[in-house]
Amino acid sequence: MTYGDIGAAVIGSGFIGTVHIENLRRLGVDVRGVLGSNAERGAAAAERIGLPVAYGSLDELLADDSVDVVHVTSPNHLHYPQVKAILAAGRHVVCEKPLAVTSEESAELVSLAAATDRVTAVNYNIRFYPLNQHAHGMIRDGAIGEPRLITGRYHQDWLLHDTDWNWRLQTDQGGTLRAFGDIGTHWIDLTSFISGQRVTSVMADLSTFLPVRQQPVGPVETFSQDRAAETIPVEITTEDAALLLLRYANGARGAVTVSQVSAGRKNSLQWEIDGSTDAAWWDSETPDHLYLGHRGRPNEILQRGAELMNETGTAAASLPGGHVEGFGDTFHALFRDIYRAILAGGPPADPNYATFADGHHEMLIGDAVITSANEGRWVDLATE
Ligand SMILES: NC(=O)c1ccc[n+]([C@@H]2O[C@H](COP(=O)([O-])OP(=O)(O)OC[C@H]3O[C@@H](n4cnc5c(N)ncnc54)[C@H](O)[C@@H]3O)[C@@H](O)[C@H]2O)c1
Repeated sequence: MTYGDIGAAVIGSGFIGTVHIENLRRLGVDVRGVLGSNAERGAAAAERIGLPVAYGSLDELLADDSVDVVHVTSPNHLHYPQVKAILAAGRHVVCEKPLAVTSEESAELVSLAAATDRVTAVNYNIRFYPLNQHAHGMIRDGAIGEPRLITGRYHQDWLLHDTDWNWRLQTDQGGTLRAFGDIGTHWIDLTSFISGQRVTSVMADLSTFLPVRQQPVGPVETFSQDRAAETIPVEITTEDAALLLLRYANGARGAVTVSQVSAGRKNSLQWEIDGSTDAAWWDSETPDHLYLGHRGRPNEILQRGAELMNETGTAAASLPGGHVEGFGDTFHALFRDIYRAILAGGPPADPNYATFADGHHEMLIGDAVITSANEGRWVDLATE
């Protein structure tokens, strides 16, 4: 059996659904069809992307026996009911982050996933930049000593103006947390994966600088810069920015700022991990360079190259060094990992991709962030 023998369907055909479809095709997976928010939008997406089928409903999609795997790329509030239905129909699932909008929902999905032999993954794709995989293997093997400080940021500017609009702004579709839920969880997932350390406590400060925004009358694509002619003012309670202090299981400490209102920062994720002997840092806008910090000798810049990386880094790479791998390539590398597990008949013991348990862990951090911000104190994570 090869990737071409596996049938996939994708729910959602917006910004990221399209990236899923393109990278499934690149892998050689047979993309059977797409499900949109309604039959008309689904048909338009199938036509635009060149897919044979636009399903009329999730039931119709799940009745298609040629579909083995379903990718969920709909808005956040739909992940839980859709994933539940997909698992009940015995299919493998790749769910976009966040796994759900509450930790009760994500806990239930973890239990449902544990009761099947299906592959269940959360799409934390940033782990799959080859140098992030390399850093994971390098730190696991002791290259920086014991991780002590885990710091950085994830800043964007696409919600800077009060006329910028997206479903993520509204709690009923995006969840209670916005900047943290949307991009902060990417940073936490990534740095936990690389450092091998789980967050145990948080101290959070959340800010909503734009408490009223202008909602366009009609739908808006994610990252769209178009201004609608007709808008209505809407009260916003989700945060534009989150500042977090973090404590980790091994005693390490962390600090991260997360913002969707930082002018000029299009998609800037940076991390630095300072260990007891050495350090490492990385910037998503120059993803083919990993910086290695030393005390008693000159620092190093590792430019991605198969012969220079460890096994985990090399496994995630596709192109020769100097041919920069970017955002889309991480989906290809992640899907290759997930579909290898599907071909093998089930999940490996310790997957490199994020599992539902990892997705649930992010939701528990979100709960602690909310309590901490409301009560102005350190909050320990609930036990998983
Ligand atoms: N991993 C990443 O880097 C990344 C990046 C962007 C978005 N995401 C996640 O992907 C999801 C989608 O985000 P987006 O930016 O693509 O949003 P988007 O608004 O661009 O697309 C959402 C899509 O879902 C469809 N949809 C809405 N209701 C539906 C329904 N009932 N059934 C089927 N489809 C429905 C819409 O028609 C649209 O095609 C979110 O959960 C987001 O957090 C992840």
